[in-house]
This record gives sequence, structure tokens and C-alpha cells, in this order.
Amino acid sequence: MEPAQLDRTPFADLDRMPPDMFAMLVAALESMSRHPEIRRVRHTAWEALRPSPGQRLLDAGCGAGDVSRELATAVAPDGEVVALDFSAATLAAARARDTGDAIRYVTGDVCALDFDDESFDGVWCERVLQHVEDPDAAIGELVRVTRTGGRVCLLDTDWASLAFDGVDGTLAGSVIGHMHGRLTPRQLDMGRTLRRRLLDHGLEDVVATPVTCYFPDPDSAAVVLPMVNHDVPEGTWASPAGLRDEWFTQVDSAGERGDFLAVLTIWVVAGTV
Ligand SMILES: C[S@@+](CC[C@H](N)C(=O)[O-])C[C@H]1O[C@@H](n2cnc3c(N)ncnc32)[C@H](O)[C@@H]1O
Repeated sequence: MEPAQLDRTPFADLDRMPPDMFAMLVAALESMSRHPEIRRVRHTAWEALRPSPGQRLLDAGCGAGDVSRELATAVAPDGEVVALDFSAATLAAARARDTGDAIRYVTGDVCALDFDDESFDGVWCERVLQHVEDPDAAIGELVRVTRTGGRVCLLDTDWASLAFDGVDGTLAGSVIGHMHGRLTPRQLDMGRTLRRRLLDHGLEDVVATPVTCYFPDPDSAAVVLPMVNHDVPEGTWASPAGLRDEWFTQVDSAGERGDFLAVLTIWVVAGTV
């Protein structure tokens, strides 16, 4: 892919991705789902949402549907999960992974939901709001479709919290600065703003938990951090000459020495409507 073709936020419109890039992004979502640090984030969210049998839940911006399938087991046998995503191709990928659970797949925009007021018992929305243009409109919609007493659970990254050790600090700063303009989303600090946004929308019992993900080696980090992942196509970096090579030399050396470290905070924020 030519750098000029890269959308600043690929997850904002996956249907525009070339097939090989799309396949890579879906595979990346699946790998993230298996990563112990993402499991830890989701465990925190699970405790905050408290899904239970018989509920009707919305997984807004469901991606490959990994969480939808887990929620479906929690609401079984009489409940339902609606897996919604803006991208038809992503929903097709989620549907292809369906295990026969009670999941309904729907294309739609989280900022303009085609559901009745108070039609869900709860909502899960993970790493989506960082990609949308108007996150407060989206939160308003998620609150509108949740019944009084239901829970809205938002998970999002604070990309501004990303930090490295074991590599040159100035170089790491250059890479972070460069990649924030290329592969990371519109709203870099979305995670830390979620508590304020839910309070502004009048939710009660708002609980905010920052989960700092810890990556003690490059392989572990590469699953979640695009700038540590050798498989992210070189063209998408469009970086100043030599930056990528110098960076990966340092990352790989730190990995070999055993002193590579990266941290990134993902926020889990839930409230009652
Ligand atoms: C980083 S992925 C996260 C997917 C999934 N929630 C997960 O955690 O594995 C972001 C997802 O949000 C979807 N998305 C982006 N903008 C959206 C919008 N306005 N409405 C609905 N989904 C959207 C993308 O298509 C993509 O599947």
C-alpha cells in the first residue's frame, strides 16, 4: 500500500482497507484477544458489566466478535447479544467465526444506532471511541439504548501513556510521535476521558479502572503495539529515512539483552443508566 492511501485511523473504516491489510488487522484483533494483558483488561470490564443469563447485550464496534461470543455464553440460554460494527467486512469475519451462540450481527454506526430507547440491559464498547469523530454522540447513543438501571461499559486506550525502556529515549519519543500521526487513532487520550464523559452523560455508580498493560519483551509488545510489530508493512510507516530500521535494531537488541520494556494504559469505565 502506498503511504498516501493510508487512512490516519485504519479502524475508522476497515471496509476501505486493501484485502491483505484487512486480513492483517482482523488477525491482529484475534491475537490481541488471546494476549494475557488484554485478557486482564477484559476481566476488569467483565466484573464492571456483570453480564448474566437472559440479558440482551450490545457489543458496539465488535470487530472479529471475540467478546460477543464470550458475552453470548454469559447470557445463555435465553439472552441475546447484538454484535454491531460499522464495517460489513469485519462483521462477515465475525459471523464466519460464529460458534452457534445467540448472536445477531448488525452493521451500523455507534453514533447513530438504529435501536429503540432502553432496548438493552447493558453495553460493551471496546477500543472503538478512539476511532470515531464524535465520541460524545456515540456515548449518548449507547446510553439511550440502555434501559434504566442497565450498565454501560467502555474500554479504551490512552495512547499518550505509552512508554518504553531499554531503548534510546529520544528515538522512542520520535517513533511514538511519528506513529501517533499514522497508525494510532484520532483521540489519543480517549481512555482517560471516559470517566468524565460518562459523568457528563448523567450515569451513576461510575467506576473507572486504569489497567496498565506491561510488555516485558518485544514479542509480547508486538501483539498490541503496531510500532513494535515487524509485520506492519514498511510503507504504512512513511517515516523519515532510517527511523524504522534504527528503531527495530534497538528493539531487537533490547529483546536479546532481556531489558526491553513497554507499558500502555487501557481504561475500563462503567456506569449505571
Ligand atoms: C480496534 S477495533 C476493536 C474491535 C473489538 N471491540 C475488539 O476490542 O476486539 C475497532 C472496531 O470499531 C469499529 N468501528 C469504528 N468506527 C465505528 C463506528 N462509527 N461505529 C461502529 N463501529 C465502528 C471498527 O470497524 C472496528 O471493528
